Amino acid sequence: MTKATDILIIGGGMAGLTCALEIPDNFSVTILSKIELPTGSTFLAQGGLAAVTSENDSIDNHLRDTQRAGAGMVNEKVARQIISMGAELVHRLSGWGVTLEGSNGDGGGMEGGHSFRRVLHYFDQTGRFIAEHLADECRKRSNITIIENAFAINLIPASREALSLLRKGCDRCLGAYVLIEDRVVTFLARETVLATGGAGKTYRYTSNQDSSTGDGIAMAFRAGLTVRNMEFYQFHPTCLYHPDKRNFLITEALRGEGARLINGTGKRFMKYYDPERMELAPRDVVARAIDSEMKRNGTDHMLLDATHLSRDFLEEHFPEVTSGVTSVGIMPWEEPIPVVPAAHYCVGGVVAATDGRTEMTGLRVIGEAASTGFHGANRLGSNSLLEAGVMGLLCARSFSSEMPGQIPSTEIRDWSFGRAEPLEESVLVDHSWASLRSVMWDYVGIVKTDKRLRRALKLLDVLAEEVEEDYWTLMPTIEQLELRNLTTVARIIIRSALKRRESVGLHFLVDCPYTSHTRTDTVLKINM
Ligand code: FAD
Ligand code: SIN
Repeated sequence: MTKATDILIIGGGMAGLTCALEIPDNFSVTILSKIELPTGSTFLAQGGLAAVTSENDSIDNHLRDTQRAGAGMVNEKVARQIISMGAELVHRLSGWGVTLEGSNGDGGGMEGGHSFRRVLHYFDQTGRFIAEHLADECRKRSNITIIENAFAINLIPASREALSLLRKGCDRCLGAYVLIEDRVVTFLARETVLATGGAGKTYRYTSNQDSSTGDGIAMAFRAGLTVRNMEFYQFHPTCLYHPDKRNFLITEALRGEGARLINGTGKRFMKYYDPERMELAPRDVVARAIDSEMKRNGTDHMLLDATHLSRDFLEEHFPEVTSGVTSVGIMPWEEPIPVVPAAHYCVGGVVAATDGRTEMTGLRVIGEAASTGFHGANRLGSNSLLEAGVMGLLCARSFSSEMPGQIPSTEIRDWSFGRAEPLEESVLVDHSWASLRSVMWDYVGIVKTDKRLRRALKLLDVLAEEVEEDYWTLMPTIEQLELRNLTTVARIIIRSALKRRESVGLHFLVDCPYTSHTRTDTVLKINM
């Protein structure tokens, strides 16, 4: 079965939805999401969106904070462009019903690494507020079709599927194969936009939803695109540590309101790691400090003490965090919250310009799946909703001026199931998922060594062979396809980490503890 659309957007988070809403309504747009909207990391965002809206703040200040967090690896031109468009994004969002606190120049929140209260938010439910409103707005548009529970499996590059559609020797993306229930539908499009988010599920502990399996990055990599700086995986310092509630973030904004990190004996330990910025040091510094304290004390968590804040204040300003932790019996106004670092944000990604343009004609990558150079070696908190939204706007706007070709014709062959058999033992997939995530957590975490990285690669190479065999012999299931993508992304992360012979930003390699001053990117392509 084949379906055609002018623009195919794979992903319905901040990047995909903003892009869809900004596309002129004479183009037909199809948004695919593998789970129902509102969704993605966007839905979970608590802290907010960093933007310069106050006269007392400036683009230069925000740029300086971004560069400082990014450890000198931020692309200044890219960062200036994205930061300069912050106020415009805030204005567009407000037109779609998303008016954030602080938009009028005061009342923004504070987070680590920011020198100004510029984090615009909706209590601590910013992402939910954005994702619900943007999805509702998309549903009102007659040119936008949303298809949920639609899982994109692979891109369709002309070089593999329809050589006659290659233009001037340059490969072109024709659309994607998409699993909907038990059928694979061929979606053809003039432009395909990957807005599939990050890959937190590569790790055992993550703040991300189950759907963050790096699908877009893996798809683009398989299609021959370059991925960059994947060794920079950001660990959020404070996720709730509780057996009954996993993947639950305790927003950095709470530290912005004075919450302190303490160890089991009640000692505030950040003074040993960053005495100047303490709990509001950039995330890599705080996450490493917690990791080091846990190792030193032989414990599996640290504590975040917000007891200086009253119950009323917490319930009013942090309703998400307060209801989340009280639901498991922790009263944050009376007792500290147990926290651990967890995989949070994929700083690397598919090399893309700020409007999502990639090496492949007809393929854009926007949001967390992309690497523009904005975050350098470490993302400043609340800069990713900004980047995802701005990229969505720029991507959409570029279509009005330059839309290549027609929707490709029917030359594309349908997906073939060949002699694929149904998967009979789901334990095979479940076990591989669990071992991949354990290997990544234990060997490729906050602090890395060459020995652990090499061992991890060896283990995952074996796993990848098995996963590939299953891919070619079994009927596709979502779990198996996600496992394949996770395996691809995990091996890219390890290979990138082995390539970088220094410690910088989020990449801390015990064997190379110093920062080189060359500031080179780590790039990988499928046949490298
Ligand atoms: P997402 O919002 O993750 O959306 C991805 C979409 O792609 C989803 O619709 C998903 O269903 C779809 N998808 C994925 N794979 C496929 C496939 N194969 N086929 C079809 N559809 C697919 N950033 C900030 O700036 N401020 C914050 O306060 C903040 N808080 C955060 C809190 C948490 C708990 C987390 C996890 C992240 C937070 N971040 C925050 C990061 C930020 O939320 C994300 O980087 C950003 O929302 C990513 O947007 P996106 O549109 O690129 O991807
Ligand atoms: C948080 O609220 O701590 C997360 C902010 C972010 O990831 O940008």
